[in-house]
Amino acid sequence: MYFLQLFSLFNVDFSELKAGQTAMYLIRKYAVDKESSKVLLEWFEPYEDFLYRKRGDLKSLANKNNLSKAIFAKSSPSQDKSPYSQDLIDKMVLLIKEELHHFYQVLEIMVNRNIPFDGITAGRYAKGMLKHVTTYEPNALIDKLIIGAFIEARSCERFAKLAPHLDDDLNKFYISLLRSEARHYEDYLTLAKQIAGKDIDERIAYFAMVEAELISSPDEDFKFHSGLPV
Ligand SMILES: [Fe+2]
Ligand SMILES: [Fe+2]
Repeated sequence: MYFLQLFSLFNVDFSELKAGQTAMYLIRKYAVDKESSKVLLEWFEPYEDFLYRKRGDLKSLANKNNLSKAIFAKSSPSQDKSPYSQDLIDKMVLLIKEELHHFYQVLEIMVNRNIPFDGITAGRYAKGMLKHVTTYEPNALIDKLIIGAFIEARSCERFAKLAPHLDDDLNKFYISLLRSEARHYEDYLTLAKQIAGKDIDERIAYFAMVEAELISSPDEDFKFHSGLPV
């Protein structure tokens, strides 16, 4: 059980920040104005300093998941701007807040349990799906949102599978994470459908196939989202 605890906490923490970063880059590219783009980068600074530059500690990250400034949509029409900017921004900002809070919560547990913290690298999972993103808009954005939905839904499933094997505190905590990942998965899918404005079942089925291959084929890199351990 200790190995499972160590393995999952370590992986989950990194994944939580990654999930937040992915959402942040998505709205920076597609939806927000220049000033807001800067605000978003600054929001992540203390977290990235901690993870990649070993600067700061748990205290320096306390309550940093709240965003003090408002985020605005781009006003001038640009090629990448989606007609759903504001909804995209609202859902993603909420998602980022939650992921940053998850990151902090996991870190807190690790500190309390004296689990050494070190940054880890990403596995093949997300990259393996992103390779299949269409090269033109708005389809590229729709694909990225579908991928986001798969990542969140798979996290949800893996938390549910892991939870019963952990101690009571971690069990409860993973179930609480699972609930918000389920909401994130729905938000991504709703946005993908709204922006497409037409049936996207075929595209979802395509990514379901790609994703299934990634989680069911042998994978040398054992992580939260990896395939079968070799
Ligand atoms: Fe999360
Ligand atoms: Fe999530």
